[in-house]
Amino acid sequence: MKVFFIASECAPIVKVGGLGDVAGALPKALKKNKVDVTVCLPFYKTIDPEKYALELVLKELKVFYEEDYNKVTVWRTMLPGSEVPVLLFENVKYLSGGGVYFARSAFCESHREVERFSFFSKSILEYLKNQKIKADLFHCNDWHTASVPILLATLYKKERILRHAACVFTIHNLGNQGIADLVVLDELGINKNSLKFLDWDAQNRDIDLMMQGIVQSDAVNAVSETYAHEILTKQYGAGLEEVLRGKSGRLFGILNGIDYDVFDPQKDQSLFFRYNLKNWREGKKKNREELKKRLNLSQNDKPLVGMVTRLTEQKGLNLVEKVFDKMIQLGFQFVLLGLGDEEIEEAFKELERKYPQDVSINLKFSTALANQIYAVSDVFLMPSKFEPCGLGQMIALKYGAIPIVRATGGLKDTIQDRKTGFVFKSFTGEALLKVLIRARDAFSQKEAWKKIVEEGMKEDFSWDRSAKEYLNLYQKALQFKHESISAKSDY
Ligand code: GLC
Repeated sequence: MKVFFIASECAPIVKVGGLGDVAGALPKALKKNKVDVTVCLPFYKTIDPEKYALELVLKELKVFYEEDYNKVTVWRTMLPGSEVPVLLFENVKYLSGGGVYFARSAFCESHREVERFSFFSKSILEYLKNQKIKADLFHCNDWHTASVPILLATLYKKERILRHAACVFTIHNLGNQGIADLVVLDELGINKNSLKFLDWDAQNRDIDLMMQGIVQSDAVNAVSETYAHEILTKQYGAGLEEVLRGKSGRLFGILNGIDYDVFDPQKDQSLFFRYNLKNWREGKKKNREELKKRLNLSQNDKPLVGMVTRLTEQKGLNLVEKVFDKMIQLGFQFVLLGLGDEEIEEAFKELERKYPQDVSINLKFSTALANQIYAVSDVFLMPSKFEPCGLGQMIALKYGAIPIVRATGGLKDTIQDRKTGFVFKSFTGEALLKVLIRARDAFSQKEAWKKIVEEGMKEDFSWDRSAKEYLNLYQKALQFKHESISAKSDY
């Protein structure tokens, strides 16, 4: 089965959030399960060409976009530490400029961003057509890649080399749907009449790329079982609940995994001291002393709360803000790393100024510091409003930081209350405060705490199980595609 895995990020080549981790790990696990998978990425300026062995695949591909022929150069490299090829699509006008996303916090959905990713999607299909490469399946991820199923259902519908290919669409986050000015269809060269539901969708003269991508795909999945159910409701469906209900029988939930080659305190080069299930107490203590020194926090035995997160509303930071004073009074220290909405950033900086001895707010992106925080934290906080899967809680488990999570999406599917972490239900400051009190009380009982830490460290969320589920999903998608082709030819 020849699969093209298409995403806006892919670790370690280019990563902004959890999507990048998934795109860097799942293809590797698929490859181990004998899937012939190739990753496709835009060749962003931020990707350092010196770091990767690049092979020129196609010097000049002409891609018609915005009424013009645009030159695309296609490069190939390997996903580090694997046999998975990565195709990098280079184009000065649309793909090279800026970072992965043009905004400070990811996913701004400006028209420039819409053009970047729709151009990227078209370039991939043009490349395959030009080189006569037959794809069996496209695996698309989030709105950035939604133009692929849209193009396959319209402009490339009759293209011999592409018309049998099935499409799987993975929803990582419905919070960003790629709402685009309708002009993007003209830019892509798509006739508006050829698109389903456009009248309904385009009432405000815009098109919801995510929605169209979902409609046009053969199979859809969300990144956890719970999220796959939640998104059928008004509360979590972000306006797409009806469309998703219409996908019944073709909508699945597959939990992400984490890559234990990357996230393992025993192998992690960014830690000051490496550790495992046997010496975690000592290991975490040594890391903590060193990191606290560097972050100017007072040295003591207070339980330390860690957060590595995008600073957006989704992540429940307003709840944390609400209970912050009480949390410090309960005797916690607090370290945060992340970037996001300026207002939230400023509010947390203010809290750092208020509690300089006990609070450290790091507004940046650093994988080394992220891993150090997992290593030094006693508890890892994820009070999300919604969380499609969440990778932080799984990483935290492995590093012996007990997750405190809200029972939503993947958080609910991975953390067991009192056994591997602490779970709270309602999205309120009171509920968060109560769970913090529970955690602090447990922290003072050394043996009980040890048991929870060790249960957590023993959990296994490796990708292999999920890769097998994806393989299953691919097979279903191929079958659905096959059925829809034969239904059409019967007609
Ligand atoms: C998005 C979601 C997060 C998920 C990640 C990878 O960032 O918000 O919950 O873990 O995608 O699927």
